[in-house]
Parts: sequence; structure tokens; C-alpha cells
Amino acid sequence: MKKEVIFKINPGGQFNGDTRVASDKSISHRSIILGSIAEGVTQVDGFLEAEDTLSTLKAFRHLGVRIEHHGQGRVEIQGVGMNGLSASSEPLDLGNSGTSMRLMSGLLSAQSFDSVLTGDESLSKRPMQRVTVPLAKMGAVLETTNSGTAPIRIQGNSHLNGIHYSMDIASAQVKSCLLLAGLYAQGTTSITEPAPTRDHTERMLEGFGYPVKREGSTVLIEGRQASLKAVNIDVPGDISSAAFFMVGASISPGSNVLLKHVGVNPTRTGIIDILRLMGSNIELLNQRTVGGEMVADIRIRYAPLQGVKIPEYLVPLAIDEFPVIFVAAACAEGQTVLTGAAELRVKESDRIQVMADGLQQLGIDANPTPDGMRITGSKLGGGVVDSGGDHRIAMAFSIAALKSTSRIEIRRCDNVQTSFPDFPEIAARLGLDIQRSQESV
Ligand code: S3P
Repeated sequence: MKKEVIFKINPGGQFNGDTRVASDKSISHRSIILGSIAEGVTQVDGFLEAEDTLSTLKAFRHLGVRIEHHGQGRVEIQGVGMNGLSASSEPLDLGNSGTSMRLMSGLLSAQSFDSVLTGDESLSKRPMQRVTVPLAKMGAVLETTNSGTAPIRIQGNSHLNGIHYSMDIASAQVKSCLLLAGLYAQGTTSITEPAPTRDHTERMLEGFGYPVKREGSTVLIEGRQASLKAVNIDVPGDISSAAFFMVGASISPGSNVLLKHVGVNPTRTGIIDILRLMGSNIELLNQRTVGGEMVADIRIRYAPLQGVKIPEYLVPLAIDEFPVIFVAAACAEGQTVLTGAAELRVKESDRIQVMADGLQQLGIDANPTPDGMRITGSKLGGGVVDSGGDHRIAMAFSIAALKSTSRIEIRRCDNVQTSFPDFPEIAARLGLDIQRSQESV
């Protein structure tokens, strides 16, 4: 018999209090990657202690990097320098983590040794040609399955050439992959994005002393220009994890929460813009810059929400937040329309279909379209919903219970461990009546 984690949430409640949320996943991955190829010791504070980022950490240990993990977000990386990685004796298992696989494909394509990258059932279904095609143009030798999925077999090649690449999708993972390959390539690698995407890689490379140029929507890196010098990194809270409490407070009368020390890099704050368009009451307090990244405390108070047409330029800036934005839409007055978000279909699950199915299960009029969804707000009922094994969908439906008329039970919540292991505890502390159990199914 298989065991699975189930969340059971009693309806109602409100969010009150202060909290920190899980640390930023994107920045945590990059701290391990860049710290490993830097010269000297990189000390990371606030590293995300979750399955995805631990997959990256373990992979770099297999590549010969000494990484001490002291727990509670403290990690010390003994950087081996740009040419100090060594072959792993076994395939690198990256679990559920698309970021690990796509970023590491770029870095490992440029090494002198071979590598194999594998992942779990969900990651093994996700498209990898978006990285293997441009990497091949740089001279990299990679092989995927016939359908362009993992495992990825990489043949070492230390003679990559810089290319110009114009991305047809707005993807920070593809951009970062090519920047990491570009570090080792002969000449310039330049990447043009169709819309701004998160720029943590660029900022962190600069923090490690490696120059990166931006010209409009193009980012450029000159290969073999410098070495990376170890720095200390303080990882802020993840706005993608904060988003659950932002929506929860916005939809439940009487709520007032303060989310402390959250990253508010402008390439990540689409959730704030979208919620404000819907009528949310959100204040950014104590704004500051920490290690090249903007950070703030975010206060959210209840305010009635209205349905909106979500501007397409905000989609890449809120790409991971749509499961919970759909919940906000279900609780809003009127219709919310999302277009230009076909990428949601190739995330940890098909987030358009799985969310539409779950919302319909709860009695909401949710119509999936090829690149988005139309949702009409109304009373939310209770029932059993399937998260599709997707961490963000499990957490989004948990939040929906604040407004549901009866209990919501969410199946397959194990993967909440990939990004926000403390979610049930923090949500309970703020006012959600949630229970986590492991059951045989
Ligand atoms: C990420 C980029 C985004 C995002 C993912 C993390 C990153 O993916 O969905 O959770 O850390 O670069 P895409 O760039 O593929 O949209």
C-alpha cells in the first residue's frame, strides 16, 4: 500500500500575526551553484531547507564540492573554482526540481567530464528541449529521450562557443542555463527575452564579481573573463511562499498579517500588482537591499476583491503564483480572465487543468483555455480535491478553505516538502484550521 500526505482543513478563520515564510528557492539554488564554482568559502544564511534546494546541494557534493550543511539555513560551501568540479560516479537525481535540472544542464555542458541528470515522475515529463536546443548551438553535446525529456545525458565539452539566442518563451531557467554555459564559452553569449523574467542569476553573478551586461531586453556575458570570488549570501523569504498568506489575508474578513523579510525583486512582484488590481490592501514596509536583492516586510489586510483581466506583461513576474491567484479569483466579485500563460501547463503539473478541476470540484465556475483560465467568483464549497502532486496547488487549495462553506481535503500533498515544509505549521499559527496526516491509499 502507498502512503500519501493529506491536508484536511476546516472551513473559515482569518489570518492574523507576524511571520517569516520559507526562504527563496531560486536564490537558494543559485547560492549553491555559484558558491561551488567560486574561489573561497561561501557562507549562506537563510538557505531554503526543502527537497528541491537540497537536491541541488546533494548534486554538487556528487560533483566533488565540500558543502557543510549546519541546518536552520546555514550552509558553508568550499568553492572549487570554475574548473574544479569533478565527475559524479552516479547519475545526479534532481527529484522534482526543474530549476536544478535546467540550470545544471548549462553548467555541466561546459565541463570536461560527462554527467547524467535524472528526476522524479513529474520532472521526467517536463520539456527540456528549451535548454538542450540552444546549448547544442553553443556546441554542447546532450541527449534526452525522444520526447525531449529527462534523463539528460551530457558529454563533457570544454570548447563551447558563445551565441546570441532570442528566447521564444519568457524563461529565467533557460536564460540562467545559457548564462552558466556562457561563463565557460569562447566569446560573448547574449540572450534576449520576450518579457522580463527573474534576474537572480545576473545579480548573483555580479555579487560574485563576474561582470554581466544588460542592453534593453538582452543580457550579455563574456566567457572566461574572471573567476568568481566567494561572498556571503543572506537569502530572503520567498515571495512565492508569501503569496499564500497574501491571498489568505485578502480573502478573509478581519485578517491582518505582516510577512517579514520577503524578497521583493521587481522581477518577482507580479503577485503584488495583480492583487492590488483586484483591490487588495498591501503595504511594503522597511524596504532595503540585502546582497543585491530588494527585501521588505509586507503587510496585508482584508479587502474585498474584484475580478480583473490580468495584464499579460505580469504573467512572467507572477509565474509561480497562479494557483493561489486562481483562488483569489474564485473569491472575488465578478470574472477574472487570464491569457498568455500557456507555460502553466508545463510546470510541476498542468496548473491550468489541475486548478480548474479542483475549483470546479468546489463549485466554482472555472473554464480552462489553452493559455489561461476564466473564473467567476462565487461561494466556495468544500470537498476532496487532488493537488496533482503539485506543491503550490496543495497550498493554494488549503488557503481556499478560509472561505469555503465546508471542509476541504487535499490529496497528494507530499511535495509541499519541495518548497515550503513548514507551510501547515505557519498557516495554523496564523489562523488556518489545518491538519496534515499521512495515510495509506
Ligand atoms: C525559476 C524560474 C521559473 C519558475 C521556477 C523557478 C528559477 O521557471 O517557474 O519555479 O529559479 O529560475 P521558468 O523560468 O521556466 O518560467
